[in-house]
Amino acid sequence: MTTQTHTSLHLTRRLRRLRRSEALRAMVRETRLSPDMFVLPLFVCEGEGIRREVSSMPGVFQLSVDEAVKETAAAHSDGVRSVLLFGLPDQKDDIGSGAYDPEAPVQSAIRAIKRETPGTLVITDVCLCEYTDHGHCGIVIDGEIVNDPTVEQLARAAVSHAAAGADIVAPSDMMDGRVAAIREALEEAGHQNVAIMAYAAKYASAFYGPFREADGSLGRLKGDKRGYQMNPANIEEALREVELDLAEGADFVMVKPGMPYLDVIRQVKDAFGVPTFAYQVSGEYAMIEASAAAGAGDRDALILETLIAFKRAGASGVLTYHAVDAARLIAV
Ligand code: PBG
Repeated sequence: MTTQTHTSLHLTRRLRRLRRSEALRAMVRETRLSPDMFVLPLFVCEGEGIRREVSSMPGVFQLSVDEAVKETAAAHSDGVRSVLLFGLPDQKDDIGSGAYDPEAPVQSAIRAIKRETPGTLVITDVCLCEYTDHGHCGIVIDGEIVNDPTVEQLARAAVSHAAAGADIVAPSDMMDGRVAAIREALEEAGHQNVAIMAYAAKYASAFYGPFREADGSLGRLKGDKRGYQMNPANIEEALREVELDLAEGADFVMVKPGMPYLDVIRQVKDAFGVPTFAYQVSGEYAMIEASAAAGAGDRDALILETLIAFKRAGASGVLTYHAVDAARLIAV
């Protein structure tokens, strides 16, 4: 039996016409990535000459200030001009007072980066969890993470980052009213030009797993963060969080984690039309690296496909541990 071939269906619409060559595909491409939209998160520890790999995040390191400066300069030469700094102080206490120590790793790194690579935008994570001995993002009294005293500490931390030269402060604690308090404190201290990138819709997520090793809180944190971070089941609440943070003076908002929350990014962008960033978090990074290592997917393609998904969903930019890899991939 011969198979019959139909040679002409006389279709007027053939969408495959525009997929026939690389040039055609490029011409009708709807979204593009640019290194300018990437922010590289860095973990800054005490000491000198330290590059300690995070075992659950191959390719990500805890860096002393001198090494963080080198990493920032290298990223800059690949076109990634913004970094997000996390501090890993040796000393921690129950109120996170290291968060506003002018000689702490983050404050020192800000000054060093601004000195060595002045064109870099320095964003700082503002939270207490890297500074508290219990690992919670706020002050704990009788088992409760108390909101208002925590907000006071966060405002102190933000002002100290601004005084060291930060361009943008990014509160990631999910306390109520922290954006307003930080804005007011910055104005009072004369830092009118320091912007706020609010982790506005931040979910209590299992995707932060590897971060606990990266920031040294593994085993320290008792309980979970569901009393202040959002329930992954909610999206109306995410819009309320964003609305409040904008009303309190946020210049950017962020949705976190990234890929499982693309619907949230889209709705935030459509509802508010403000700079909306996505955080592709530690667990997402680890998943990409693990699947590539297991031969389950092409690493470069996984990186680019996940990042273009953020752009397609409406993200203005992405905080990603793959920022430099992605910038290099785009350049070729
Ligand atoms: C601090 C903070 C966390 C992350 C960013 N800022 C941890 C948390 O909230 O538990 C997670 C980042 C990542 O997983 O890559 N509050």
